[in-house]
Amino acid sequence: MIKQEIPKSVLKKRVKEIAERITRDYQGESVTLVCILKGGIYFFADLSRQINLEDVRLDFMCVSSYQDTETTGKLDIRLDLSEPITGKNVIVVEDIIDTGTTLAYLMDYLMSQSPKSLKLCVLLDKRARRVTETKVNYVGFEIDDKFVVGYGMDYNQQYRTYPTVGVLEESGPQHKIKNPGEK
Ligand code: IMP
Ligand code: MG
Repeated sequence: MIKQEIPKSVLKKRVKEIAERITRDYQGESVTLVCILKGGIYFFADLSRQINLEDVRLDFMCVSSYQDTETTGKLDIRLDLSEPITGKNVIVVEDIIDTGTTLAYLMDYLMSQSPKSLKLCVLLDKRARRVTETKVNYVGFEIDDKFVVGYGMDYNQQYRTYPTVGVLEESGPQHKIKNPGEK
């Protein structure tokens, strides 16, 4: 059972606000949005369609540093960019920043390709769990230290298609989850 954490209307409004801010910040510029699969898929789709700029390009990466709900601290690039980002304005679009380990590795990797600018946009920020200094430029919501699913986010690949951000309710041993890093 999933319990709704962020109402759909609230989520929709916030995504629109972020798109408007990006539109303002990049007036007269072109921008490449990089979706971090799989979790970023719906946020990326909704956000990108509301950015009102002439030259918005889309690219995709699939990375992970996660095994189950434990962070491994290592970036595994399963899908890399399809176009060079050298000299481009790049915004990385990700579902959630937790410890920040995955994104710290990823931002370093992208920075080494000399983009014109590099920013980070996350829907959710679990600030209390941060262990790296990764700077986040656009944040949808700050959330408490609880494990969320839906709107692209999973628990062992399940629950991604739940239409908004939710939390798993314990309804049996199969749903008994703990937060990443919790003993
Ligand atoms: P970090 O390296 O600890 O910041 O981990 C970030 C990644 O872990 C995110 O991109 C998610 O894929 C995953 N993750 C962290 N917290 C959650 C959560 O509450 N629900 C689902 N996935 C999560
Ligand atoms: Mg992710």
